[in-house]
Amino acid sequence: MGMTASAQERETLLEQLKAFLRIPSVSTAPEHKDDVRRAAEWVRDAIQRAGIGNAELIEGEGNPLVYAEWLQAPGKPTLLLYGHYDVQPPDPLDEWKTPPFEPEVRGDNIYARGAADDKGQTIILIKAVERLMREGGGKLPVNVKFLIEGEEEVGGEHIESYVKANPGRLKCNAAVICDTEMFAPDLPTLCVGLRGIVYGEIHVQGADHDLHSGVYGGVAPNPMQAAAEIITALKDRDGHIRIPGFYDRVVPPSDKEREAWARLPFDEKEYTTKEIGASELVGEPEVPLFERTWARPTFEVHGIRGGFTGEGAKTVIPARAVVKVSTRLVADQRPAEAIEQIKAAVKTACPRGVTAEFKLIHGAEPSLVNPDNPFIQKSAEAMAQVFGKPTVYIRSGGSIPIVGVFDQALHAPSVMMGFGLPDDNLHAPNEKMHLPNIYRGVDAMCEYFKRLGA
Ligand code: BES
Ligand code: MN
Ligand code: MN
Repeated sequence: MGMTASAQERETLLEQLKAFLRIPSVSTAPEHKDDVRRAAEWVRDAIQRAGIGNAELIEGEGNPLVYAEWLQAPGKPTLLLYGHYDVQPPDPLDEWKTPPFEPEVRGDNIYARGAADDKGQTIILIKAVERLMREGGGKLPVNVKFLIEGEEEVGGEHIESYVKANPGRLKCNAAVICDTEMFAPDLPTLCVGLRGIVYGEIHVQGADHDLHSGVYGGVAPNPMQAAAEIITALKDRDGHIRIPGFYDRVVPPSDKEREAWARLPFDEKEYTTKEIGASELVGEPEVPLFERTWARPTFEVHGIRGGFTGEGAKTVIPARAVVKVSTRLVADQRPAEAIEQIKAAVKTACPRGVTAEFKLIHGAEPSLVNPDNPFIQKSAEAMAQVFGKPTVYIRSGGSIPIVGVFDQALHAPSVMMGFGLPDDNLHAPNEKMHLPNIYRGVDAMCEYFKRLGA
């Protein structure tokens, strides 16, 4: 038995992954409550099949957590293994080539919602443990605690309170997170920084009822117009956020990081036209690209509700408008402080005749990991060995709320070993996962655990 998977092992993995992907565990949709539970049960059973019999569902408010532990390697490190079994909604449905919950293999990829985010990565952790258990005759080289959640895509509120309430049970030397991406195909990558987030709605209220736009136009306040004015007051045309104090705590990347980022293999034109599919990039002109996506905060509008949006014309001044917005935060910004800053800026930007209020939906801390620790180092070595290239260190602009909590509540560094690819279409139609990355991910994870246990 060697480091790489046998044909049989791959086939079994693929069949099991397909079963996992068929469960539409959309955490934001109440009608999928039962599916979300089935996905949790699937994960529990898969961990049991891997050889950890005590895998269980932890029930509480919200979707169940899956927990399992194997602690029979005295003197060896303890790893907390994290992934999430919930997924984003699949819409727009008509843009999928094959239905989102009917996984299909085309070429080397498997297509389905959750293929890369995060079922196809969570299974890497489970399958690595399974192989090591088999090879070790029921023994692992390290101690492991699985903690797999079902609310990552909606802010991870309940895992956060669970971790804060149970630091003893979850005590570990490091957390291993399989939920990020490689910088490029074949390039082993460790993610050492994530942005945080504050997500909410701006509610703008004008008159107390809809009005005829001819009869009252010229005197009645228009909350849709006001919403647009507020949005443009919060970020200027050059991408600078105009929320007072917002940048005060932003820590610039070190020179070492900047230099390493500048050496990453990167084709800006291809990124712009293929990966993003736009004619040009925007944002703070004086800030280099990776700094804009990894080390600077954002302000984005996700949707505007209100007024008349049907076919044809209706002459109305709407009574209210709701704007969904988020800001991504970077170290050392704090969500609690950012929320107050946003609230104040919305009030200041609110034109007369309407009221505007920011209502929080969820928030998460940004995180930065110091790569100078043995858990990161050994991971880099293990991945370099399996992929045959030196491991690169990047950050990501996305957020994984629990990483900040592991840091604060458990004082555990997070080792973000991700095997997704930049063109995996996360949260979008035709999400996919490159199957060789799952197999190499399992190899790399096994190699990592062995090195830690040596
Ligand atoms: N796995 C992603 C985050 C991610 C994507 C990290 C790519 C690194 C590279 C995660 O599932 C995600 O989408 N998180 C949400 C969190 C939010 C809903 C609180 C995000 O970033 O929007
Ligand atoms: Mn994810
Ligand atoms: Mn996601």
